[in-house]
Amino acid sequence: MKALLLTTTLLASTLTFANEEGKELHEESCVSCHGSEMYTRDNSKIQNHFDLKGQVSACANNLGTGWFPEEEAAVLDFLNTQYYKFDK
Ligand code: HEC
Repeated sequence: MKALLLTTTLLASTLTFANEEGKELHEESCVSCHGSEMYTRDNSKIQNHFDLKGQVSACANNLGTGWFPEEEAAVLDFLNTQYYKFDK
């Protein structure tokens, strides 16, 4: 079990490495209200990639991040790679 966990963590960090930008933007702006537990909660409203995109936009707009579409896309990609794993 521990070995499996470790492998998963290693794999996840290799994947995130490809998207440092999304990770950093997320850390800067998104963790003030909710951490990753929000993305893995049992009653998540997010059912697919489209929902996820909408929610990322909604939260980013609420916050007034002023992100460029590419920055929003980077965060979307980070969350999907790290937590949701939807097909696009
Ligand atoms: C002002 C507080 C706040 C901030 C800051 C915030 N969020 Fe949220 N976010 C929420 C709340 C509240 C919910 C739950 C909404 C609901 O259940 O209707 C949520 C839900 C979400 C969800 C859906 C979780 C799920 O699976 O059900 C995602 C994805 C998300 N936020 C992404 C982001 C991103 C990306 C950012 C950074 C731009 C961000 N949030 C910043 C308050 C915030």
